[in-house]
Amino acid sequence: MRDTDDPVVCVCMEVTESELVAALEQGHRDLPALRAATGANSGCGDCAADIEELVEFAGGGTGGCAW
Ligand code: FES
Repeated sequence: MRDTDDPVVCVCMEVTESELVAALEQGHRDLPALRAATGANSGCGDCAADIEELVEFAGGGTGGCAW
């Protein structure tokens, strides 16, 4: 049973949005860094766009982190 408030972003590696947000907060501000930190996007690669969206929303490493 999954918490619907915490959707799985990367189905292959079962990485949830909250895990990615936590990694963003720890300074992993791009896809390669998030992949290294969480394992997300190390399977089929289909989740790349969704992860990039989270990165953009978080400020994309510009220092404008919204979290
Ligand atoms: S859904 Fe993330 S690597 Fe496949």
